[in-house]
Amino acid sequence: MANLITTRDNILFYLKKNKGIWVSGESLSSHLDVSRAAVNKHIKRLRQEGYTIESSTKKGYFLKTFDDLLLADEIREGLDTRIIGKTDILHLKETDSTNLQAKNLAAEGAPEGTLVVAEHQHSGRGRKGRTWFSPPGIGIYSSLILRPAISPTEAPGITLMTAVAAVEAVIALTGIPARIKWPNDIMVKNRKLAGILTEISTEMDSVDFIIVGFGMNVNTPADDFPSDIKEIATSVYAETGKHFPRVKMLQTYLKNFEIHYETFKKEGFSGIREKWKAFTEIIGKKVTVRKVAGEITGKVVDVDHEGVLILQDGNEEIHRIFSGDLLV
Ligand code: BTN
Repeated sequence: MANLITTRDNILFYLKKNKGIWVSGESLSSHLDVSRAAVNKHIKRLRQEGYTIESSTKKGYFLKTFDDLLLADEIREGLDTRIIGKTDILHLKETDSTNLQAKNLAAEGAPEGTLVVAEHQHSGRGRKGRTWFSPPGIGIYSSLILRPAISPTEAPGITLMTAVAAVEAVIALTGIPARIKWPNDIMVKNRKLAGILTEISTEMDSVDFIIVGFGMNVNTPADDFPSDIKEIATSVYAETGKHFPRVKMLQTYLKNFEIHYETFKKEGFSGIREKWKAFTEIIGKKVTVRKVAGEITGKVVDVDHEGVLILQDGNEEIHRIFSGDLLV
């Protein structure tokens, strides 16, 4: 994960420059001043990363495709951020959960902005112990490591802020009229398009690290959703009938994320609150919230500067709700 240009990077650059053209092993090794054995070794490594590189003893190498894999170099290329996803990106073909992997890296000292992405999660996790459907190659499964100097009580604001970054990316790139359902579901009408799972590690009363897990159904065909979520899930493909490049979606989300995160670090959730409110339709509506202790029904008065839902029940009593599931 070092930030140095390596022989591998140079080989990849050369192959990309000559995409669609055969490049001889000899020209690679003389152009980059490395041995043929080193070229072979790095080609093997690039294949393991996910690049499709054909080889022929006569013609050399041919970079066939890397289309829409969430490869570190593809994400980094054209990513206009300062820290987020800029240096350390770990791309996994398959993993249990990117949040778990990011947590392990963070515990070992990985810096703020480290990004873990996977093509497939076999134990993708959702909020409240639920699972997150994570089929290979068609969704975004990503986790960011953050180390903000905030108190743990401010951390929920980061989840709300992330929802703004995600919904803005969806609207800007696809035109889908996505909205935020409190606290952080990205919805299209009554179907869920994306979700956020934030996990926090604290030390005394400060934050050690925060993992922001983001999952989005991008190219999932509607029929592929398992029966228990078929009626309540959607994808960009299901909404538009078109496949969408996941790398582009992820880059735009990361860019938005960094902008809002900078604001958050200076002003807390207050600095993003109006934006968040503009993407939700619940203010003034009658809703029911399911909490561990039971359900409360009332009118949504506001979402306050900490992202707390303010509800007024039938007896005019005001409830401050920190977490729960909104039933609509
Ligand atoms: C939810 O709405 O329940 C939250 C879903 C969060 C899913 C993402 S996918 C990437 C990251 N890794 C996980 O295991 N979960 C989050």
